[in-house]
Amino acid sequence: MKDLIYMLFANYKDEIIFLHVISAVVWVGGMIALRYAAHQSIQQLQSPLDKLQRTAYALKRLFIIVAPFIVIILLTAIIMAVGFGFRSAAIGPEGNVINSYAMHIYKIVHVKESIWTIMTLNYLYMVFRRNRAQKLIDNADLPAAKAALAPIGAYLVPINIALGIIAVYLGVVLQAG
Ligand code: HEM
Repeated sequence: MKDLIYMLFANYKDEIIFLHVISAVVWVGGMIALRYAAHQSIQQLQSPLDKLQRTAYALKRLFIIVAPFIVIILLTAIIMAVGFGFRSAAIGPEGNVINSYAMHIYKIVHVKESIWTIMTLNYLYMVFRRNRAQKLIDNADLPAAKAALAPIGAYLVPINIALGIIAVYLGVVLQAG
């Protein structure tokens, strides 16, 4: 497995970094466009039913679009983490730290992994809430549907936008390091 990763990284480094970056662009940019452009536009609608239906549909489209990019970001991250050899630069064969700067960089890789994990769990939770809201809309229970959707716009998407921006910044730090 490691040999395959080294081979992929050696032959397709630029393509792998490109896929990683474009995935971040689609995921983070998609959330910003939905939350701060489409959402505001949908709020102009008069009918509460239309508002809920459009919001649920726009979220569904976003969640479908970003799903493959969430997987690609992780796969490319694994290839880069192994390919760049962050661990072997920081930690010796006996498990001791051999270079404190490389250790600092290696820790950033772990922070990025944690951010990805939180963003993905948050994403899955939003998918679950949206699906529940869709059923409530279909059953004409609009107050409950609104309650199911409200936290997505109020803080779940903004949390993922903030985490995504931090991950992009840490990517720049790793690239420079
Ligand atoms: C799963 C954990 C992750 C790991 C291990 C990881 C690792 C890396 C590494 C090693 C680089 C440097 C590439 C280079 O040297 O050119 C990088 C760059 C980058 N990462 Fe991640 N990443 C992860 C998750 C994420 C997430 C969740 C996002 C955003 C949603 C993201 C956005 C970026 C961006 C935009 C860059 C490019 C920075 C630049 O070229 O200056 N990464 N990442």
